[in-house]
Amino acid sequence: MTTSTGFDIRRIGGRIGAEIHGVDLTTGLDPAVVTEINSALLEHKALVFRDQHLDDEGQLRFASLFGELTTAHPTVPSVDGRPQILPVDGDEGIRANQWHTDVTFVRTPPKASTLRSIVVPPYGGNTLIANSGAAYRDLPEPLRELADKLWAVHTNDYDYAAPKNEKAAEYRRRFVSRTYRTAHPVVRVHPETGERGLFIGGFAQSIVGLGPSDSRDLLRIFQSYVTRPENIVRVAWAPGDLVLFDNRITQHYAPDDYGDLPRLLHRVTVAGDVPAGVDGVLSHLVEGDDASHYTPAAV
Ligand code: SIN
Repeated sequence: MTTSTGFDIRRIGGRIGAEIHGVDLTTGLDPAVVTEINSALLEHKALVFRDQHLDDEGQLRFASLFGELTTAHPTVPSVDGRPQILPVDGDEGIRANQWHTDVTFVRTPPKASTLRSIVVPPYGGNTLIANSGAAYRDLPEPLRELADKLWAVHTNDYDYAAPKNEKAAEYRRRFVSRTYRTAHPVVRVHPETGERGLFIGGFAQSIVGLGPSDSRDLLRIFQSYVTRPENIVRVAWAPGDLVLFDNRITQHYAPDDYGDLPRLLHRVTVAGDVPAGVDGVLSHLVEGDDASHYTPAAV
């Protein structure tokens, strides 16, 4: 499909994902183009811009078109001298091979994430992105009604798999150096479209009012709808690509299938608002600070 401002949107998945052609992100973008990119983001949830070869400055400029930026992360250090850029470096043990939505353990998780490929392995090292709105719609009615009523506590401090080496162990220590716990609705209403989506993922560790075993079982059932192959797009990276995804209604996963081959992405995230459930009730902090060092949206 060609937009009124003249770029092409080519779907790459049945239920999520599109490639954008005919936009040069290294140049200043006309506001009308940005509006159409945002509309495409709301519809397709994950947009892939091939062969852009942005530098850090360019990625920051592009991400800023969608709102104020967060700092790199609430606990993990940024790229040197670039407080808003998170290095995603496989060599440093940063391998996001667990389904998650970025930083949902704080009260105001980012609204959108940009990932830019700098070094990618010749095979493997893809990123999978899932449509959690489609997952919600796939739920049988009784499960949907149950999900609508539930809340989950998200935390950065839980029983991870044992780190594979000392670098990964150090990264894990930093990741949990401050503890956050936030209660979010299991079903989040998208603030721009009103679409409902399952808002869970790896940081969601318990369901409010349920014990560990029931929590685990229910989260596993809901999560199995998010990760159905029908709801996923797989992005195979080439150096110089940029992916923009809507963190309010997606989850993602980076398979750890590239051994010791180098893989480096830079991540920049756009600040988001406080999630609301189907009854309009807002997420609340259970433990930790308001993350105002991380996000200008902290309230
Ligand atoms: C992330 O979770 O932000 C990183 C995803 C990736 O490594 O592809």
